[in-house]
Amino acid sequence: MKAKIIGTGYELPAFEADNQYLSTLVETSDEWIRERTGIGKRRLAREETTTSLAAGAAKKALARAGVRAEEIDLLIVATITSDTNTPSTACRVQAELGAVHAVAFDINAACSGFLYAIHIADAFIRSGIYRHALLIGAETLSKLVDWTDRGTCVLFGDGAGAAVLTASEEGGVIAQSVGSNGEKWEVLSCLGRPVQNPVCQSQAEPGYLKMNGQEVFKFAIRTVPLCIEQALLKAELPAEEITWFLLHQANKRIIQSVAKRLKQPEEKFPMNIETCANTSAASLPILLAQMEEQGRLKAKDKVVLSGFGAGLTWGACVLEW
Ligand code: UT7
Repeated sequence: MKAKIIGTGYELPAFEADNQYLSTLVETSDEWIRERTGIGKRRLAREETTTSLAAGAAKKALARAGVRAEEIDLLIVATITSDTNTPSTACRVQAELGAVHAVAFDINAACSGFLYAIHIADAFIRSGIYRHALLIGAETLSKLVDWTDRGTCVLFGDGAGAAVLTASEEGGVIAQSVGSNGEKWEVLSCLGRPVQNPVCQSQAEPGYLKMNGQEVFKFAIRTVPLCIEQALLKAELPAEEITWFLLHQANKRIIQSVAKRLKQPEEKFPMNIETCANTSAASLPILLAQMEEQGRLKAKDKVVLSGFGAGLTWGACVLEW
């Protein structure tokens, strides 16, 4: 049995902040942001929370899959912006959906989170332990961003995407290549609450998202093509046979560079970065759900999903739609 995606959904906050709006907050311009990243606007949460966005995306994915919440065995939310340190966002989504039979937990793998969730779900489904999995990538990164730092605040947006996976004899996940390198954790990080207990009163401030953009850029253009090639090798498929390469939406130039290194036409690399910006773990499932909504994914299409991010973490997954 293979793990096959049978329904997707996404949810975005109502408020849309274009580059012009950001130029009223920090010294930047529409021209700079578009040229360097491909981003034109992003959604920012007002009333929405990571939980509400996740639940909204999940309901649409369940409806599209034709699966009832009670049928879900495994519910994973990939997020670095849970509304509560505990319980997990997954447990709160479980309650909202009534997914009473699911084991529910969050994972933290930053922008690679959705791929890591597939990695886990594939193992459980392949081994016969679980039949239906609901995977969600959900973020309100706007609460971790330093809104005075133009180097990072222009890059991120809020949103959620979800996918229902089921055990299937046909199609589904063919091969994966997933990795981490904790030695590079400082390249992209956000510190948690400092220790303040009866025996230690740390003076450290709660952290904002900090990034060495050029280091992350170099890591991405080197690692993403490599891990895609490794996954394709395991799948015994040449890049030419892949219909779509869906990449984490962090920077248009990164995606173009990966296309070039894989010697594949850019048209095979759909993007939504212009309207959604970088939504971390939500980026891939939002793009996937938009592709399904637009009817661009056809049965038997070979699709590559690939992401990278803080950790450092990365991954690629080859699947048949
Ligand atoms: O999910 C994974 C997360 N992150 C990524 O994938 C990010 C990967 N890195 C990147 O996408 C790019 O490195 C950035 C888009 C973040 C930055 O682009 P860059 O071409 O590497 O620019 P830079 O950091 O080298 O900055 C160039 C100039 C600097 O000014 P000086 O020193 O040349 O005078 C910056 O201060 O651009 C300036 N700058 C800005 N100017 C206007 C930096 N941010 C901005 C801004 N608006 N928002």
